[in-house]
Amino acid sequence: MTTPWNHRCAQRMKSMKGSAIRELLKLTESPDIISFAGGMPAPEVFPVAAFQAATERVLARQGKQALQYSASEGYRPLREWIAGKMANYGIESAPENVLITSGSQQALDLLGKVLINPGDLILTEKPTYLGALQAWRAYQAEFTTVPVDNDGLQVDLLEEALTAGPKFMYILPNFHNPGGVTLSLERRCRLIEYSDRYGIPIIEDDPYGELRYEGDHLPPLVVIDAERFKHRHGRGVETERYFDETPPANGNGRAYMRGNVIYLSTFSKTLAPGLRLAWVVAPVEVIQRCIVAKQGMDLHTATLNQLIAHEILTGGEEGDDFLKGHVRLIREVYRERRDVMVTAMRRHFPAGVTWTEPAGGLFLWVTLPEYLDAAEILKEAVARKVAYVPGASFHPAGDGQNTLRLNFSFCSPEKINEGIKRLGEVFDRAIEQHEAAESSGAIPTLDVAF
Ligand SMILES: Cc1ncc(COP(=O)(O)O)c(C=O)c1O
Repeated sequence: MTTPWNHRCAQRMKSMKGSAIRELLKLTESPDIISFAGGMPAPEVFPVAAFQAATERVLARQGKQALQYSASEGYRPLREWIAGKMANYGIESAPENVLITSGSQQALDLLGKVLINPGDLILTEKPTYLGALQAWRAYQAEFTTVPVDNDGLQVDLLEEALTAGPKFMYILPNFHNPGGVTLSLERRCRLIEYSDRYGIPIIEDDPYGELRYEGDHLPPLVVIDAERFKHRHGRGVETERYFDETPPANGNGRAYMRGNVIYLSTFSKTLAPGLRLAWVVAPVEVIQRCIVAKQGMDLHTATLNQLIAHEILTGGEEGDDFLKGHVRLIREVYRERRDVMVTAMRRHFPAGVTWTEPAGGLFLWVTLPEYLDAAEILKEAVARKVAYVPGASFHPAGDGQNTLRLNFSFCSPEKINEGIKRLGEVFDRAIEQHEAAESSGAIPTLDVAF
């Protein structure tokens, strides 16, 4: 049957292909599969009772407001709370610098809508977050990449990529998705220097910053950027250069941040992803354009969810301490799961397979011998009822075939042990098959019915 829709699709759909891997990974949603594929939090740590109590309080006290349309920029008390929380991170901002979004994924899409023209070059790390590539491909972005190693982005290799004139850099400094690595302080400082020297701004995506299991918190790029302004311009003029004292029309006389870095974070990993609640901290001129773009997308983020989140964060018996205590619990659970996974990998993975050992976050990154293809091997893994995401999806140019991402937050320690054991056997077999094929002169294949 001919359909009138195929030839009516916009040009941009050509760059928005679904992937065969996604189709394969759909199979991994079945409960008998041990899935290390998703980026999902452990459902056991969701604060269900706190949500239930907060929802009841919101509906009892603010029911009509909670069920009504609301401002595109977000619920003001929540934006104030976020500006206060950011101050604890050293990020000096006003509520006017904060936009509430329906997940950080929407923030990425909004920034794409506001910043990217077809053909614009974006600099990303290699590998990088798949969801950002998906969002920005829709705006017909091109990508240039700089690889990461155990200390994050290889800043030594940055200059050449910057001379190609990217519109902005997209950086994940903490517990990288998918790489699991963290950008060192020294590299953070050099990255900001380069950003300043070449006049190329940064989108700093930080969903995992609070999920640190060991070591010291490192300052976000947005803070180092602010510090640099202060040193460069001298303390006398720092406020004038970094902060905009001119309030917007409805302003209240507070100082508004400026600078070269847009900061993103989310409640998805600290409260619950089903809430779809995240935020952007940026100069007012960016926020105001994002607000206009957001109006065309969803008018505003769900009022009910914003009020419930605000109530959870401030209104329960623990008040402002709820999140601190809850994040402490999440850290304990995930630290144990990371340790279980790493110990099992040391035990079961064959020689020649290497991996990152993250100090936080949800993921670690595995590199197989160069001759292996993680997407091919996934078929065998899924047949053995264990799943991961092949690494090529995280590479804008589709390379990295011998890499893959494992999530350690979702499965119980028992399942992690069993899943890693199975994966070790699958990798063993793939290596053996390759060696056998090589010694017989044949091309290696995996004979799995799938
Ligand atoms: C690096 C990164 N950015 C953004 C997101 C999207 O998060 P959200 O659930 O807030 O949309 C994720 C989700 O895993 C992520 O890992």
